Amino acid sequence: MILIRNVRLVDAMGERGPLDVLIGEGRILSLEGGEAQRVVDGTGCFLAPGFLDLHAHLREPGEEVKEDLASGLLAAVRGGYTDVVSMPNTKPAVDAPEVVRALKRKAEGLRLARLHPAAALTLGQEGKELTEVGPLKEAGAVLLTDDGRTNEDAGVLAAGLLMASPLGLPVAVHAEDPSLRRHGVMNDGALADLLGLPGNPPEAEAARIARDLEVLRYARRRSQATPRLHVQHLSTRRGLELVREAKRAGLPVTAEATPHHLSLTEEALKGFDPLFKVAPPLRTEEDREALLEGLLDGTLDAIATDHAPHTLAEKEGDLLRAPFGIPSLEVAFPLLYTELHLKRGFPLPRLVALFTDGPRRVLGLPPLHLEEGAEASLVLLCPKERPVDPTAFASKAKYSPWAGWVLGGWPVLTLVEGRIVHEALE
Ligand code: DOR
Repeated sequence: MILIRNVRLVDAMGERGPLDVLIGEGRILSLEGGEAQRVVDGTGCFLAPGFLDLHAHLREPGEEVKEDLASGLLAAVRGGYTDVVSMPNTKPAVDAPEVVRALKRKAEGLRLARLHPAAALTLGQEGKELTEVGPLKEAGAVLLTDDGRTNEDAGVLAAGLLMASPLGLPVAVHAEDPSLRRHGVMNDGALADLLGLPGNPPEAEAARIARDLEVLRYARRRSQATPRLHVQHLSTRRGLELVREAKRAGLPVTAEATPHHLSLTEEALKGFDPLFKVAPPLRTEEDREALLEGLLDGTLDAIATDHAPHTLAEKEGDLLRAPFGIPSLEVAFPLLYTELHLKRGFPLPRLVALFTDGPRRVLGLPPLHLEEGAEASLVLLCPKERPVDPTAFASKAKYSPWAGWVLGGWPVLTLVEGRIVHEALE
């Protein structure tokens, strides 16, 4: 039994407390205290349901030099995540049930965050032949996506949505039109022109989202079940508007935004630093403001990291050649707690919802609230500020665009079903 004393509770429903939370048998036993072997003082801190990340590149199998399940899932629990959806753009791609099963088995042995593998929508993520959706779901896949690549064949995407819908699996899309994106390494516009860098235009995202929404309309008309489309790492004002209109029209679409698109803009590229090179690229302040609106009005369902670790050597190289990607599992919550809640008054329960109930809903999971009887997958977060120190990351990617930023809201205790998986109490 663990007792977390005098702690505020924050979940999607609001804030309460301080209360004394008694945890045992994997559940919240009481909000009125009780006897426990272990007592944690939660004074000044707040307890939230464990976070779920819809989008992490854990690189296993094949690119363990960048990350593996052990380092990635340790990074996750340090970031307050109890559940992680791993992306299938590994080497080889996760496109077969036995690979999904092997990943899950290995992750279970680590006893850190729970792993929910996403599987490729197409064999080898080549965009041609659909994977075997039924066996993949049976093996434990929770989402289908060719993320990292774009879905060029609209008919294949439609067929994927139709196949996945009776099984209740969402299909997630990396929405960028490669013929517009071309070799862009940053947002297309005046700044890219000034820096002499090839631009990736916002229209590449918007055009692809518009197409995918039409594909979803078609699949919905032809399916007995509800096909669910999830738009990954939405980065533009126009893309957001398209999703908002589609939601208003009742289309079963959901969307996520990343910590980097919510906290950084294209201005970061002024130093030609590949740490800020990511796909889709960092956009303008106007786009960022639009995303913040989208977090508030429900157009965005989730904040998902798109944690994309590469080796430091790769990310220190030439900007034009460096790979795309920003790692953020260990900083996502403190970053947005500080930048959005503390500095801009973004409501804390809504922020927590975007890390918990929002992503859970995308996967069709029930909400997780802090009440007696609820599963004790929890995170304790404290306001004490400290600078981001990437050299101390558990992730193999020991660099960060936010290095040195002073943040509060760090996870000091993470529990999965009542078991402590991360502890950094003072
Ligand atoms: O920046 C990115 N990195 N975007 C992607 O879509 C893929 C990811 C990766 O796998 O590195």
